[in-house]
Parts: sequence; structure tokens; C-alpha cells
Amino acid sequence: MEDRDVPAPVPQRRRGPGRRLIGAVDERLGVDALRYPVPEHANNLGWSLGGLTAFTFVILLVTGVYLAQFYNPTPEAANQSVREISTDVWLGEFTRSLHFWSANAMVLLVILHLLRVVLHGSYKRPREGNFLVGVTMFALVIGGMFTGTVLKWDQEGFEALLHNIEVAYLLGGLGFWLTPEAAANLPILVRLYSAHLMLVPGLIIVLLVLHALLVKRHGISAHPSIPGRSRELDEPFTHHLRRVGAFGLVLLGFLGLLSVLIPPIIGATPVEGIEVTRPPWMFWWLYTLENWFGLRAILWASVGLGVLLVLLPFIDRGPEREWRRRPFVIAAVGLVVLLLIVLSLLVLVTEPEQHL
Ligand code: HEM
Repeated sequence: MEDRDVPAPVPQRRRGPGRRLIGAVDERLGVDALRYPVPEHANNLGWSLGGLTAFTFVILLVTGVYLAQFYNPTPEAANQSVREISTDVWLGEFTRSLHFWSANAMVLLVILHLLRVVLHGSYKRPREGNFLVGVTMFALVIGGMFTGTVLKWDQEGFEALLHNIEVAYLLGGLGFWLTPEAAANLPILVRLYSAHLMLVPGLIIVLLVLHALLVKRHGISAHPSIPGRSRELDEPFTHHLRRVGAFGLVLLGFLGLLSVLIPPIIGATPVEGIEVTRPPWMFWWLYTLENWFGLRAILWASVGLGVLLVLLPFIDRGPEREWRRRPFVIAAVGLVVLLLIVLSLLVLVTEPEQHL
């Protein structure tokens, strides 16, 4: 609780042209409460990764709402409607492309944010609960990527769905919702569409509010390499928001450029009975394991990684947060990360195999 022991003075607001306007808005909405003090290091890129993850989520919401106006989630029309978004809809191809690249960026950023939290031991007491909220959001982000891939209804999406259904069967009663039998009157594509539109983003929003409230309650963790916090150097949280906004605009520019230069491809309507595609990169490690050990490996490896993440704050409980003084935990985490990277890269030299 090192950050909350001594109440710090609220940093003084600078004078400026927008001051009267902010004053008027504050009188009505209390926005001045956002000017609570945060340590200077919160403005580092490493500590801004969570904010940038949230930034990409906002891009996904905006572009997703636009795409939903034109997408048709029935199996007969889904693939064609995506093609028409790219060819017939005003800014359709760009919006679809930005949605795709932002989704990839969100997965990458949430992984980097998680690694930053692990490296600095930010999951330690009293932040274990918020770490678990984070792990749940991580699963939801991956779930959003998966359901989004299926929506294209091309060979890649179709094969992803078939794997998902087979894994759901392995889970027995627990996986029932993800099988076609759960609602025989409605194609599973339509149910995954509703999950992609409502369940996944809705739960992320609720958990994100909880995540932010807990970050506010505990205070941002102290920098392990900067022992004493000098409160004179504290800055208002609004400066941090501005900083994340600036990083975010650079990111948006980069994603916009990628969207113009490399629009995502969409394959032909799926053919049943063949297995010829590779999944998106965040599932590559599972793909290699499936090639080696069969379909069950997808289930056990995902559950295994999830359990490791959940247990981490309860295994590494000592007060030490500097990474050099936690050699065993950091070496173990490093090994797992290395294994995941190697398993993923092996996909590049592996021919797709038939498993279903
Ligand atoms: C949708 C995904 C996520 C978003 C948008 C998000 C957002 C944020 C933000 C804005 C912060 C404060 C600034 C920072 O430390 O970067 C934060 C802190 C934190 N997050 Fe996340 N986060 C997400 C996922 C995760 C995941 C996957 C984990 C870990 C499994 C996690 C664990 C934490 C912890 C423990 C803190 C407190 C860090 C500290 O005090 O130093 N978050 N998150």
C-alpha cells in the first residue's frame, strides 16, 4: 500500500485558454476529480500499455458498429456480405481493415501489458484481485479474436469454428453452449455473432471499469527500480491521459497506414471435409501442439496456460518486485514465453494436417 499511506496534494492546474471552459464543465460534471496525483513513471510507455490496449478497444467499438450495419450473419450470406463491405460500402474496406489491424494490435498490446505487469511484480499484494480481472479480460480479448475470425465465414473461419466445436465436445456439459445442439433452431454462426457483438465487448467494458477502479484504489504500483517516491514529482492523472492519447494517435496513424497498405484477405466460402488453413498468429502455438498431440492438446494447453496465469500471484508472494531479485520466477516466465514463441514459429515450417 506504499502509494496510499500519505495523502498527496492535488497538483495545481496550469493557467491556459481552456481554463474557463474546463471550470464550467467541472462545475457541472466534476471532471476536476480526474486530476488526482499519479507518479511520474506512470507516463512511461511501459505503464501506458494498458491505456493503449483500451485505446485499441475503442477503435474496435467504433469500426465494429459501422461494420455491423452491413454484415449478414447467416451462413448463406456471411462471406458475400463481407466481400460487399469491401467493394460496395463507402469506406467499407478501410473500416474492415482498421478493425482487423486494431484487433491484432489489441492482442499484442494486452500481451505486452501482461508481461510488463509480470516483469515489475505489479500483481503482488494488494493487486492479486485486479490481476485476475486482467486474466479474465485477456481470455475475452482472445475470445473476441476467435469469434471475429469465424464471422468471415471463409475456410479459415470455418475450420476455426470446427475446432472450437470439437473442443466443446471434449469439455462435455461445460462446452454445451458452444455446440450446434445448444440451439438447434439457430446456426451457431449467428450465436457467435451475438457473442462477438454483445457478450465479449459487454463483459470487457464491465471488467474494464472494475480494472480501472481497482487501479485507482490501489494507486499505480511503485517503480521497482526507483525506491522512494518523490511526491513533488507527481503529475495529475489528466497528464497521463493526455500522454496515452498522444501515444494512441501515433498508434492510430500506424494502424491507418497498415489498413491502407495491407487490407486483410478473405477466402472463398468454406468447403467441408478439408483442413488447409493456419489460424491467426496468437493461436499458432496451439496449432503446433495439435499437430504433435492431436485435438486434445488445444484444450489442455489453453487450460494449462490459464491456470499458470491465475496461480502466478499466489506462487510469487514475496514482497520483492525488482525482476533481478526474483530470478526463479522471471526465469520460469521467460521459459514459458520462449516456448510459446518457438511453438508459434514452428508453424511457418509446418504443413497443415487433417485432424478433424
Ligand atoms: C482488455 C485488456 C486490458 C486493459 C484495457 C487494461 C488496462 C489497464 C490500465 C489502463 C492500467 C493502468 C496503467 C498500466 O499499468 O498500464 C492497468 C493496470 C493493471 N493491469 Fe491491466 N488491462 C488489461 C488487461 C490486463 C491483463 C491481461 C492483466 C494481467 C493478467 C492486467 C493486470 C493489470 C494490473 C495488475 C494492473 C496494475 C498495474 C500497476 O499498478 O502497476 N491487465 N490495466
